[in-house]
Amino acid sequence: MEIVSVVASAYGGPEVLSTIRTTLDPPAPDQILIEVRAAGTNPVDVKLYSGSYGQDPAALPLPLGFEASGIVKEVGGELEGPCGPISVGDEVIAFRVSGAYATGLLATASAVLAKPASMSFEEASGLMLAGVTAMHTLKATATHSGDTLLVHGASGGVGLMAVQLAVADGVRVIGTANSSQHDLLRQLGVEPVVYGDGLLERVRELAPAGIDAAIDLVGSDEATDVSRVLVPDPARVATIVSTERSRALGVQALGGGPGADPGAAIREAARLELLRRVQDGSLRVIVDASYPLSEVATAHRELAQGHAHGKIVLVP
Ligand SMILES: NC(=O)c1ccc[n+]([C@@H]2O[C@H](COP(=O)([O-])OP(=O)(O)OC[C@H]3O[C@@H](n4cnc5c(N)ncnc54)[C@H](OP(=O)(O)O)[C@@H]3O)[C@@H](O)[C@H]2O)c1
Repeated sequence: MEIVSVVASAYGGPEVLSTIRTTLDPPAPDQILIEVRAAGTNPVDVKLYSGSYGQDPAALPLPLGFEASGIVKEVGGELEGPCGPISVGDEVIAFRVSGAYATGLLATASAVLAKPASMSFEEASGLMLAGVTAMHTLKATATHSGDTLLVHGASGGVGLMAVQLAVADGVRVIGTANSSQHDLLRQLGVEPVVYGDGLLERVRELAPAGIDAAIDLVGSDEATDVSRVLVPDPARVATIVSTERSRALGVQALGGGPGADPGAAIREAARLELLRRVQDGSLRVIVDASYPLSEVATAHRELAQGHAHGKIVLVP
């Protein structure tokens, strides 16, 4: 199948991104060919070609994108994914895959899940990476019904998932965000608070009885310091953006990077739980912006600012 895909042809800023024409082999017996309808972008995609994870020339041109939604075009054999048998014509989510920024991709059955009918392709393309990460933060901090949870970066891709999951579980959620996002957070059941100078006092005022657990989705010194002061049990503070300071203060790191807990089993199991929650109406994906695949560099300039309010998606 002829496809168009995005690659980084060098390490650098979004200007290194371009679209190329290429051919996909027919699916192997354990593979599924998917026509991509939308691809979810994530900050890690920017980090990969920015050089912050190293600059291996042999990895170029670098394919991008770990998640997509689309329609099954061809199946290599009789295949079953985590949601059951996979057939031509199925609307699916592919995660975790490589090269999702494309008009088509090949995935193994274990990475192909049924797209809930209630979701658009754009929404579905942004569900998994942020969603499994959010679920991991809540499990790692043992957050449960009745807790008061502080979420730093509540209005970002991961933040919007984490707050919805926690609120649905009966957790009181205080979330830091720019004031422009406070109305949306209130609608989701969150008590919003502006980040920046005086955060510690503002949170104390909102929760005089204390904070049980905190998750840092930003990686700022402020998030680390405020969390460590307010949460009595250090094991109930976690970050997905580990820094020298968070490591020095004993904050548990989740995901990739040195000393971080990858949480592979939790994240794998979380995929079906996310689908269940979308189906029961307690979880939705908020799409901040949608760009054609050909405008990937513009999409990434926005993503790289670090102020997205929901998912930025690419549509072939
Ligand atoms: N370890 C892992 O497994 C893992 C997985 C996914 C993501 N991540 C990382 O986690 C980070 C967040 O990812 P994401 O997908 O949620 O990013 P995103 O969608 O770009 O959201 C970032 C959010 O952070 C907010 N923000 C920026 N500065 C802030 C500050 N000082 N205090 C509080 N909030 C602030 C922004 O909101 P405002 O406009 O309101 O400032 C924005 O909504 C990224 O660095 C990403 O690479 C790690």
